[in-house]
Amino acid sequence: MAKVARIPFIAGNWKMNLDHLQAIAFVQKLAWSLKDARHDFAATEVAVFPPFTDLRSVQTLISADKLDLKFGAQDVSEHESGAYTGEISAAFLKALDAAYVIIGHSERRTLHGEDDEKVAAKVAAAVKHGIVPVICVGETAEDLARYGPSAIPVQQLRGALSGIAGATDIVVAYEPVWAIGSGQAATPEQAEQVCAALREVVAAVLGDEVAAATRILYGGSVKASNIASFMRQSNVDGALVGGASLDIGEFASIAQFLKHVGT
Ligand code: PGA
Repeated sequence: MAKVARIPFIAGNWKMNLDHLQAIAFVQKLAWSLKDARHDFAATEVAVFPPFTDLRSVQTLISADKLDLKFGAQDVSEHESGAYTGEISAAFLKALDAAYVIIGHSERRTLHGEDDEKVAAKVAAAVKHGIVPVICVGETAEDLARYGPSAIPVQQLRGALSGIAGATDIVVAYEPVWAIGSGQAATPEQAEQVCAALREVVAAVLGDEVAAATRILYGGSVKASNIASFMRQSNVDGALVGGASLDIGEFASIAQFLKHVGT
């Protein structure tokens, strides 16, 4: 598949960290930090994914100060509305101008029992409301030993895409479970191999053109010191960053990966 220009995407998954007051201070400082570094948002897109209760504050700050940062949610309900206590619909997120939503993060899959079917329903709900899903897939260490590197992520992505024929705007994040929060990132070559296989899945389901335009991220212990090596891979178009996204200097430096020389 021909390599086309895809705008790199650096996404910060805050998980259950920072309340709305902390979020305001954090986003303000992050914006200053990127401005000081003369970050070119047209060359590298940067987004934060705060907890639900922060979204309104982050939206207000970004729109009032005309910041170039994007934001999204960490989860969404597959349902439209109704008796689903505790759930947040895609329509609600859209009303807050959330551009993205993370779906199928391994913590949702393992701690909240989300299977491929549920993930597919959530992806369909996001797409229906014009929110770009950041679809997470990844294998555990046991899966890796048993099935090799791409089998499980490929199977999970096929499942996740099963209800969105005709969709044109998605993001995929390959996050090996063994690499998340472990300090032990995949090698750039491992990431490239799986991301290339995932692009083939997008091509098979949504067509070559969509596959060529889809950003496929690597996630799992990404830091300022290893981001450049991932970004050199032809099928890795960005990173989903957890722990390091809570450190403003570190996250800004990851977003500035184009300036890292000799790393
Ligand atoms: P990590 O988390 O960067 O802390 O490994 C990544 C993620 O879970 O999205």
